[in-house]
Amino acid sequence: MVILVVAIIVHGGAGTVKKEERIPKVLDGVREAVLAGWRELKRGSALDAVEEAVKALEDNPLFNAGTGSVLTLDGKVEMDAAIMRSNLEAGAVAAIWGVKNPISVARKVMEKTDHVLLGGEGALKFARLMGFEEYNPVTEERLKQWQELRKKLMESGETRHWKKLSALIKEYPEVLRSTVGAVAFDGEDIVAGTSTGGVFLKMFGRIGDTPIIGAGTYANEFAGVSATGIGEVMIKLVLARTAADFVRFGLKAPEAAEAAISIATEHFGRDVAGLIMIDRDGRVGFAKNTKHMSVAYMREGMEEPYTGI
Ligand code: GLY
Repeated sequence: MVILVVAIIVHGGAGTVKKEERIPKVLDGVREAVLAGWRELKRGSALDAVEEAVKALEDNPLFNAGTGSVLTLDGKVEMDAAIMRSNLEAGAVAAIWGVKNPISVARKVMEKTDHVLLGGEGALKFARLMGFEEYNPVTEERLKQWQELRKKLMESGETRHWKKLSALIKEYPEVLRSTVGAVAFDGEDIVAGTSTGGVFLKMFGRIGDTPIIGAGTYANEFAGVSATGIGEVMIKLVLARTAADFVRFGLKAPEAAEAAISIATEHFGRDVAGLIMIDRDGRVGFAKNTKHMSVAYMREGMEEPYTGI
């Protein structure tokens, strides 16, 4: 007999943390987030747990989501977020700006509309209707990074296409500081949530995998999954849903996570993707093909969260 174990796992994005001294701060950030989620989970709701954990990551300027989101080619913030439950209820926002916590707006889309995904002006209009106040998520550090990276891109004379940006990402892997996410299981419901500022210097209007159900975020009766990395990869491979399908066909979360990431590596090479997941028995899984992906998790019976990168 399998005993169901209440659990929560969070990530602070896959990529390369270039400055070593940042690593302890990043680990503290995911630890705080998993504990914020755990407090809610102990009250019984995976949905509240995921929202609180993702909010903690969005509010931490170290991570590329909410406050501290990276800037588009034209220097704006356009954030994506999604949340999904194992009963297939889902809500998402794409290319939204001017709000503090996109994950909470995504939850409102799920709970208060007949739709799954609202984008741009419409998403912002809905957020204001729901009482989300005006907020500027741009930080000084991100603005400085944007100026430096844009200059490099201009100097190389390659500003027209994303292919050129991929080359830039290879040269400066710290550009890809992508995304935060959480997955929780409360004994009944599995919930997955993801939030991101996207990728540095992305084209205006570009929407990544995070708000695309099945690509960056997915939950069903078998598993919940939150992915991170280059969004175009996850969209093309429907990676979050693929990882959940591996559980449907018999794998446990740790093996399913590895199997899904190996597909990303096979098609697109290394340094493109990572994901976290929980299966219906409460097992946690995580895998990456990048140098780093900060992760923290708590399961019933643990005194302290696991943290790693
Ligand atoms: N994985 C986040 C993005 O590509 O937008």
